[in-house]
Amino acid sequence: MARLLILFVIIHLILPQFKCIISPPNEILKISAEIFNSWRDVKKEFTDSMKHPMGLPHFNCSYSIQEPATSVHQLHPSQIDVVAALGDSVSVAQAAKSSSIFDIFEEYPGISFVTGDDVTLNEQATLINMFRQFSPRVKGGSSDRIRKFYDFNLAVPGSFSHELPEQAKELVKILKRKLGSRSEDSWKFVNIFIGHNDLCNVCKNETLYGPETFGKSIRSALTIIHSSIPNVFVNIMPPINVQIHSQAHEVSPFCELSHKQTCSCIFELDKEEYLKIKEKFNDQLKEIVKEFNENSATSNSFTVVISPAMDLKSIPLLGGQPNVALLALDCFHLSPIAHDIAAKQIWKGLFEPVQKKTVTSELSVGMDRFVCPPIECPYLRTDQNSEGCEPPKNFRILPIIPGNTSVGLSMPPFIILGFFLFGTALILLFVRASIRRPSSEFSDERHYLLLPMRRADLNDNIF
Ligand SMILES: *[C@@H]1O[C@H](CO)[C@@H](O)[C@H](O)[C@H]1NC(C)=O
Ligand SMILES: *[C@@H]1O[C@H](CO)[C@@H](O)[C@H](O)[C@H]1NC(C)=O
Repeated sequence: MARLLILFVIIHLILPQFKCIISPPNEILKISAEIFNSWRDVKKEFTDSMKHPMGLPHFNCSYSIQEPATSVHQLHPSQIDVVAALGDSVSVAQAAKSSSIFDIFEEYPGISFVTGDDVTLNEQATLINMFRQFSPRVKGGSSDRIRKFYDFNLAVPGSFSHELPEQAKELVKILKRKLGSRSEDSWKFVNIFIGHNDLCNVCKNETLYGPETFGKSIRSALTIIHSSIPNVFVNIMPPINVQIHSQAHEVSPFCELSHKQTCSCIFELDKEEYLKIKEKFNDQLKEIVKEFNENSATSNSFTVVISPAMDLKSIPLLGGQPNVALLALDCFHLSPIAHDIAAKQIWKGLFEPVQKKTVTSELSVGMDRFVCPPIECPYLRTDQNSEGCEPPKNFRILPIIPGNTSVGLSMPPFIILGFFLFGTALILLFVRASIRRPSSEFSDERHYLLLPMRRADLNDNIF
């Protein structure tokens, strides 16, 4: 009784501040507590059976203290000043630390594989905490608790690729506003990861969510970045083929129910059809990246690189089954373990020549290490320094001063957020309550990856 009263009070105090209670397409997702609980147990079993959920403890890199970089083609991690993220819910780590069905709409940007700054490298790798090992001044990190002044994670849950140019514009504005006079000189690493919502809706309207729109949007976003952000390394990740999520259906019926709400096209298109569409998305990306690099071949201040580390061909197996420990509690987004893997694998890829970057496979899961920038070529690889690490003419290689750091390994303490206390209930309402970004200029409602577009979005003329 007391519980119910508290719940009643909480709902009435908090909810009016939020614009809406979000509703998945069918308003109410009816899932029995039994199915959900058994999914949670199965997921826990997988997690528990991973010997090294956060990879192997290993961080012992020499780092270099260098002068500011003079070329994007000779950019060492110690010269990065800013890490930023554009994209969708995956980049803000939606659902990553969810512990109940009521917080699966929450964002946990503090552990995002790109800007997660609530965790240290000995808890979970993120790109920013790896860059920080080399460049202590690096800015852009996110926290779950507050929106930091220098939080440059501008990814918006629920975004489609056609919304990317808007995010790019926002990034331009925010960098100028927050970095002031330093915005020109500082070196930025901008990560782009988008297209999941497009892929999940592509069966509904191929014009709106298909590869052409994806390509057009990427081109438009890169144009904005290229023309308005000097000294930038753009790391662009092909979207994960969402079809592989259907592998999780054999593990738990919850996953099937969840995906019916979140990514219904995986029930409409078969594996072959998805492979074809995904191929077209990737082709668009390759073509555009090539085009931009050709047009900026003489530029020392802009480059774009495709980072295929998370372009998974399937969900990595564990004991012969899809390893659902990599999935968040909504069975769709990435778990903290997967964010750790993503960060380390993308990082590793940064030092691989552009044509030879590796994709994460089963073998690296649970065995992934922090890779040190190779002594022979410690620069972020670009189209111009991938063959033999040839530095562009006129730029000297600065000396590398070694220094050692080593860190141990432990699982991060999972913070359990319970916004609502319910007694036993068979019908569970999906309720969202995010306090973090109430004033976001972007859609605040579409926290679920695959919510239908709002009317406002349909009217936006972005291109
Ligand atoms: C770290 O690296 C240095 C030099 O590369 C090596 O001598 C040292 O043993 C390493 N330490 C650990 C803990 O691996
Ligand atoms: C698909 O989207 C485009 C662009 O918004 C629209 O013009 C078209 O009518 C849509 N097609 C269908 C079948 O809904």
